[in-house]
Amino acid sequence: KLPYAEPFRIKMVEEIRQSTREEREQWLKDANYNLFNLKSSQVFIDLLTDSGTGAMSDRQWGALMTGDESYAGSRSFEQLQNAVEKITGFKYLLPTHQGRAAENVLFSVLVKEGNVVPGNSHFDTTKGHIEFRKAHAVDCTIDEAFDINDLHPFKGNINLEKLEEIYKSHPKENIPFCLITITCNSSGGQPVSLENMKAVRELSNRYGIPVFFDSARFAENAYFIKKREKGQENRSIKEICKEIFSYGDGMTMSSKKDGLVNIGGFIALNSEEIFRKASNFTIIYEGFITYGGMAGRDMAALAVGLDEATEFAYLESRISQVEYLGNKLIEYGIPVQKPIGGHAVFIDSLNFLPNVSRAEYPAQTLGLEIYKEAGIRTVEIGTLLADRDPETRQNRYPKLELVRLAIPRRTYTNNHMDYIAAGIKNVYERREEISKGYKITWEPDLLRHFTVQLEEA
Ligand code: F0G
Repeated sequence: KLPYAEPFRIKMVEEIRQSTREEREQWLKDANYNLFNLKSSQVFIDLLTDSGTGAMSDRQWGALMTGDESYAGSRSFEQLQNAVEKITGFKYLLPTHQGRAAENVLFSVLVKEGNVVPGNSHFDTTKGHIEFRKAHAVDCTIDEAFDINDLHPFKGNINLEKLEEIYKSHPKENIPFCLITITCNSSGGQPVSLENMKAVRELSNRYGIPVFFDSARFAENAYFIKKREKGQENRSIKEICKEIFSYGDGMTMSSKKDGLVNIGGFIALNSEEIFRKASNFTIIYEGFITYGGMAGRDMAALAVGLDEATEFAYLESRISQVEYLGNKLIEYGIPVQKPIGGHAVFIDSLNFLPNVSRAEYPAQTLGLEIYKEAGIRTVEIGTLLADRDPETRQNRYPKLELVRLAIPRRTYTNNHMDYIAAGIKNVYERREEISKGYKITWEPDLLRHFTVQLEEA
């Protein structure tokens, strides 16, 4: 057997620069200890997100040049529609400028005050759009997802009993849909099995509830199905994708992930009625229904990106790199969510920094330490991200306090992965000395982690 190697070669490079620890300490202070406030030039390796940060292929750059910028009915829209229909089977397409815009448009039609929207750990903007409408997102993820050492192959799965409990305890009119997030970002980039999707569909059919997908990383989810689900190993990624979407009434998409582009999103649906209603919201919030906030050229590049992201060789390279980093950290004894997820490695900071109290944001503290150590920018998936309870205004303490190392697609090499692992190992070796966290000096009402300001506790 030959060793594995990337199925691409590099045609253009972008310089990145190291800095000193003194510089980084000053920059953090100036940034009010919020990593979102750093300039990218102050970051050596940027693992803040895998969203919109990947490298496009030569085919995608070529497609950009063919973009049709007509206001209505552009050729690029048609290309995108064909690509989406080929992969998902959904007939109706509404482009939007990114994933949360797709949520805004779709939820404007479907979500009303007092509704409940069950699902598997909704993403923060998704929850934000639900709570903004005075509705509730109910997390029905399986319990195994919250034990980082449980090796369940599909930790994004929905617990059917929890879901049925919601269906039984609320009138049908109060549940606009069940939302399956693939892969489930908040639980660690963990996949949902085909079997679970099918069972959610059947259960939801019995109660007359529609099913939608939050599909940001659907291709990575399909890869895990091929690798881990019995009977799926000989199917192509595209065949698996078709089956996934056959269990839904529609989807929202952040194209910045598995669309392999830097900006964009869409809604795809089967229902003409919802499409018509959503079209009105697209027009007022996003743009005319054949571009919805996207340039023609960006739709053209996305059409190609969707095709590339659903090829096995690409996914194997992408996900092996994430796993490579995860395995290094495991080798060093660092507590991470296992199995390693599709787009990121999630570090369990409660175990990593046992001396920092929960009220002082241990995941944020660890993210700041990793930056100070090695110039690596990560993101907190913990109490800051979880926001306050909308009614009590108390901190909501999530089951896990995680630091996410999100790996951009086709961007860094495995040397970078080695560097990241070594930097985190250095912090791990002095973990006992880290006992002080941070306190909030200012925060907004909603989605606070983006703009919160902190100081040393
Ligand atoms: N759904 C999921 C599962 C996501 O991870 C994201 C974005 C969105 C929806 C919203 O899409 O950013 O295009 O508006 N996640 C990014 C992240 C920001 O870093 O995980 P968007």
